[in-house]
Amino acid sequence: MAVGIFDSGLGGLTVLDAAQRRLPDVEFLYFGDNARAPYGVRDAEDVFQLTNDAVHQMWARGCDLVILACNTASAAALRRMQEAGVPEGKRVLGVFVPLIEALTERQWGDNSPPREVATKHVALFATPATVASRAFQRELAFRAIGVDVEAQSCGGLVDAIEDGDMILAEALVKSHVDALLRKMPKPEAAILGCTHYPLMEEAFQAALGPDVTVFSQGNLVADSLADYLTRHPQMLGSGEGGYLTTGDASRVSTRATQFLRREITFQSA
Ligand code: DGL
Repeated sequence: MAVGIFDSGLGGLTVLDAAQRRLPDVEFLYFGDNARAPYGVRDAEDVFQLTNDAVHQMWARGCDLVILACNTASAAALRRMQEAGVPEGKRVLGVFVPLIEALTERQWGDNSPPREVATKHVALFATPATVASRAFQRELAFRAIGVDVEAQSCGGLVDAIEDGDMILAEALVKSHVDALLRKMPKPEAAILGCTHYPLMEEAFQAALGPDVTVFSQGNLVADSLADYLTRHPQMLGSGEGGYLTTGDASRVSTRATQFLRREITFQSA
């Protein structure tokens, strides 16, 4: 039995790690499309095709539930895949909704009309494709009114993280935060709207200062997955867990081990 976790590369490991801590008895199959990362500079059609292919492979390996632990894929592919209809007994879910429910102080599945919330000025850091999709703003507008969102597309950051160049990644965080603060000098909250960015969470918090609450997706998605599996225990799936990549398995294993500070061994997908 395994629950699938998909990302373009290493970023989804931040979600996987939180999910493994929250659900130690559940097996997970991680799939990183590292050979084709970053997705955030691709157009929506391309991201849809790549995501759709990967999720079908994970379903075929026995995962009944696949989490798109990738905001870029969630923005470009999730709705389209769900609308096209998924195979009987299979599900695909994204990572936006748990985050937006936390930001708007909602319980899971609270579909009441949008209302005023305490946080009024929100900085969104995401990939160029996620920012262009305006998917965060759309999901937020279903739940909250009067929230001002300023989005900063963080070009180059995913490549630097995938390459393990943390000095460049830190410099990029600083310059993207500076650019955001020029547009919105006093955000109350910052959303790390790409699952790679929690690997740089300390750098974001340092650049934003202590008064800004930084929201990242790991624990929020893990809690929401735990709740989902309690309500749908049959979605645990039948396949085996493990770590798959379309990239160079040894290189990806080294990076993953460095990021999660425990031994992770990827196999070729
Ligand atoms: N980690 C992904 C996200 O959450 C994608 C990054 C990328 O491949 O550009 O958006």
